[in-house]
Amino acid sequence: MQPFLLNDEFVAGLPQPTRPVLAWLREDRRLTAAKDACREGECGACAVLLGALEPGGWVRYRLVNSCLLPLTAVGGHHLVTLEGVNRPDDQLTPVQQALVDEGAIQCGFCTPGVVMGLTDWLLNGLRFDREEGIAALDGQFCRCTGYQGIKRALTRLLPLGAGLPPPETRLGALIAAGVVPGSFIGIAERLAGLPRPERTLPITGGLLVGGGTDLFAHSWSRPSPQRLVMLADRPELRGVTATAERFRIGAATTVEELLESPLLAERIPHLHQVLERFGGTPVRDRATLGGNLVNASPIGDLSVCLLALAAEVVVDSPMGTRQVPLARFFLGYKRLDLHPDEWVAAVELALTPGPTRFHFEKVAHREYLDVAAVNSALYLDLADGAIRRARLSAGGVAPTPVCLEDTSAWLAGRPLDGATAWSAAHRARQEASPIDDVRGSAEYKGLLLRQLVLAHFQALGPEGINADWPLTPNGGEATT
Ligand SMILES: Cc1cc2nc3c(=O)[nH]c(=O)nc-3n(C[C@H](O)[C@H](O)[C@H](O)COP(=O)(O)OP(=O)(O)OC[C@H]3O[C@@H](n4cnc5c(N)ncnc54)[C@H](O)[C@@H]3O)c2cc1C
Ligand code: FES
Ligand code: FES
Repeated sequence: MQPFLLNDEFVAGLPQPTRPVLAWLREDRRLTAAKDACREGECGACAVLLGALEPGGWVRYRLVNSCLLPLTAVGGHHLVTLEGVNRPDDQLTPVQQALVDEGAIQCGFCTPGVVMGLTDWLLNGLRFDREEGIAALDGQFCRCTGYQGIKRALTRLLPLGAGLPPPETRLGALIAAGVVPGSFIGIAERLAGLPRPERTLPITGGLLVGGGTDLFAHSWSRPSPQRLVMLADRPELRGVTATAERFRIGAATTVEELLESPLLAERIPHLHQVLERFGGTPVRDRATLGGNLVNASPIGDLSVCLLALAAEVVVDSPMGTRQVPLARFFLGYKRLDLHPDEWVAAVELALTPGPTRFHFEKVAHREYLDVAAVNSALYLDLADGAIRRARLSAGGVAPTPVCLEDTSAWLAGRPLDGATAWSAAHRARQEASPIDDVRGSAEYKGLLLRQLVLAHFQALGPEGINADWPLTPNGGEATT
């Protein structure tokens, strides 16, 4: 596998590219600050920083869960553990000092992850208000629930953050403040000198990995013998581009990169809002669009949104490129219109001029940062206050994410009012075919879907209309 930098050290020639970074750190390197807890990306106790060289010649660090990270993914990067953030003079960093001063540590098991999360915030934060600080820790769970102390600690860091220059030129100030050690200087040059031949190897002939957040959850007992093809290392598969009519998202673009895209925020703002409810920061920093589609989970958030937005999947292979409507890409449970020598290169959307509305809802065990039990999206194309075209999609109610075609067709030409909302909710429930599973009974999921459709209309209805809607839960055709 490719050489990389671990803290201040050059590492090369590791023999087990599919081994989780967390296992290697703790068992082989005896770097035990990253904690071995859930092993499935849920808790953030294993968080480390992964730095990559940006085109401008600076290193962008991302917070990632080392339990979901195969060693191959680290090739060509700067891997930073808490040991690599500690000051060489044995003083505490400002982050550590703030946590101590505010009594934010009880059993301490989550503390290394919290330190890494707050260090990541100081490296990459933009606003430095309390809200941004809390969001920076959205992937870290404290089992002792000592959140008040942690919040007070991050509040202490606000003045430090407020005085920082933009992330691209921030490193010197962070070193001067003791947030990261002086060894971070020169990392960009050292990374630039590392060989990256993998970037030009063929994409076929191995197990394709986007971010690995699906592939490597629960993978500890079954390391893959295959060659891993890290798609995130392929610049041609990353990024967001747009023309007046079309929008294209590279398959290896991560959810966090989508959130950071000004183009997405400007052109498809409603999709941008959905992304904030996807996983926590360490998951968003790795999870890719392509992985969400190809994982073919019946409840993938991006799959459900993109179905409502009538997305097309761009499929590449050594033989050429073809384009498939997303609704036809999902063939059955975990079955896709994707052959073994093909990969998803991008997703394209047509941007409709004129008034459109979009809304996404999901219900999960936790309101945010969790995989849904049922999720749904509704896209409406409006003309003169009536619905010209609609696309209603749902996840968790069929073996694949689905577009509810009958309900969508029925909506065309209807007024945007309460009676339409109730009838659509009822029809959607009839059209879907959920099954009993760990996330809930079929009946419960049917009810959830009905409520989510109502929630779409409540969010999308013209202002003032909601209070007047005849929301009579008669379970059948609403009367007008
Ligand atoms: C703690 C946690 C929270 C999560 N929260 C959410 C959530 O809120 N919403 C949600 O929808 N999901 C969530 N997920 C699931 C997961 O993060 C997403 O499905 C994610 O988008 C998967 O992307 P990935 O790049 O990590 O996929 P990977 O694990 O890299 O790959 C998944 C599958 O896709 C294949 N693959 C990847 N990219 C391509 C490509 N371009 N072409 C062909 N094949 C490809 C891989 O071979 C593999 O079979 C969560 C996961 C965890 C662990
Ligand atoms: S051990 Fe819980 S996220 Fe990695
Ligand atoms: S202090 Fe115990 S888990 Fe957070």
